[in-house]
Amino acid sequence: PSLSKFTESLPISYPISPPSTLDIAPGTHSFHSSLGSSTTWGYGGLSYLGPTFEVTRGTPVRIRAFNKLGTHPLAGSVDTNLHGVSASDITNPRTVIHLHGSNTEPDSDGYPEDTYLPGQSNVYNYNNNQEAGTLWYHDHSLGMTALNLQAGLAGMYLIRDEDDPIGGNGPLGIPAGAPYEIPLVLQDHSFDSNGSMSFPTTWKTEVYADVAVVNGKAWPNLNVDRTLYRFRIVNASNSRFFRLKLSSNQQLIQIGSDGGLLNAPVYLSKLLLGPGERADVLIDFSQSLPGDKIVLQNDAAAPYPKGLATVIAQGFFKMPEVMQFTVNQGAAVPKAIPTRLRVNNPLITKIATKPVKERNLVLIDILNSNFQVLAMILNAVYWHEAANHLELREQPQVDTVEQWNFINLQPFAHTMHLHLVPFQILNRQSINDSAYSAAYRATGPRKVLMHHATPGDTVPYGYPPLDPTPYLKGLAKPPAANEAGWKDTVVVNPFEVVRLIVPFGAKATANLPFGNSFTGRFVWHCHMLNHEDNDMMLPFDVLP
Ligand code: C2O
Ligand code: CU
Repeated sequence: PSLSKFTESLPISYPISPPSTLDIAPGTHSFHSSLGSSTTWGYGGLSYLGPTFEVTRGTPVRIRAFNKLGTHPLAGSVDTNLHGVSASDITNPRTVIHLHGSNTEPDSDGYPEDTYLPGQSNVYNYNNNQEAGTLWYHDHSLGMTALNLQAGLAGMYLIRDEDDPIGGNGPLGIPAGAPYEIPLVLQDHSFDSNGSMSFPTTWKTEVYADVAVVNGKAWPNLNVDRTLYRFRIVNASNSRFFRLKLSSNQQLIQIGSDGGLLNAPVYLSKLLLGPGERADVLIDFSQSLPGDKIVLQNDAAAPYPKGLATVIAQGFFKMPEVMQFTVNQGAAVPKAIPTRLRVNNPLITKIATKPVKERNLVLIDILNSNFQVLAMILNAVYWHEAANHLELREQPQVDTVEQWNFINLQPFAHTMHLHLVPFQILNRQSINDSAYSAAYRATGPRKVLMHHATPGDTVPYGYPPLDPTPYLKGLAKPPAANEAGWKDTVVVNPFEVVRLIVPFGAKATANLPFGNSFTGRFVWHCHMLNHEDNDMMLPFDVLP
């Protein structure tokens, strides 16, 4: 169906305190007034997505979440070849919540096998012992995360502190809460002619769609006053990257990344957000004129960064428009934009403690005997192998600093995410991918039948790590200014090594933005949801 643009109003979920009980339940939702309504899923009584929660640093919350889900809205897309998925996920769907960006005990972190069924509930303890930041919560069921997010199981969770208190009026003078701080959950969707969500019937390497959906509405419009707004943006898409810009050519003023405020605002003509990444952004509409219409545009190709013929043929290559702002009548009320952020909580810009260990972690594709991509995985290790064999897992020691090097041997970007701990990007460097890949693949893999391979295919697993140093090209580049804060999800470009400094506990080095030293089992994974659901995710253990 062809849908009019900018005719729906943007739904806004202004921040509220988290409740002590939270239903995860079906609802009826319409993505556009010319589409019918269909069954979707939501949290906390919403028909689609979940409420935006806000909490203050150091104030713990305890939430009991009830699985009240029924038949999956995307029943026809449940692929039982994926790890952990069975036909009962259609009628008796599992769920588990992960609070993305939180420094949380393992039992509350949403481990993908800690799912529970309709009629069951689970308690989540969030101690919120970390700096202000833009977190989000979403389903994390093994093999079903893509479908469950597409069905609606995602929401935002803002942590506040003395630099960014509830209700605003902090030292920075930036908005917090209604009416000028607005969460934006960005997704792409496709719809059937009857208006229900459509999704491929079996797993594909990536999923792109043709309709931009923000907070659950297709290409919405937001009427804005002539003043300063703050947008908390998350890319909650399956595979699509967004590189956002404003049609008015005014700049996006980024003040925070995944894990908190930057040191100073970064003025951007374009803002790149891969799946799972967040940005805290100011837009100043005080210079706009009443009646101005400003479109939030996107020029990222799919797959990012270069596109692919099959995606182009489907018409999903570009999604040039995302939403629109229409400027209200009334006098302009300009507000000062702070020049420095973080009054009370200085940002360490370089972790001085030397890493105790450097890990090389390879993003690699596994082909079947017909050279079709079976999966993109990490270190050539499959989920079920790492779940069963401790020696195949990364096992950092609590309260130490490590360096993790992600090495992408594929022609497309991925977004890599670590649970539990924020990290800083040390630098990025190009690699001679074919030479490294040949050497890496020659290191003598063991052979195992992958559970979703075509019968007869024998595919390798568990390559030992290979030092990329002899294969590096050019100079290492420091992170861009808007990536120079705390991150938990990072874009890894094609044929690139991204080096991260990761503190695995509050005592790992001085001045960390979180206060816990949890041990136990967590996960790291690609946040492109179809990759995550097909083994591009592994457990790791923080050892005592
Ligand atoms: Cu947002 Cu492990 O995920
Ligand atoms: Cu990926």
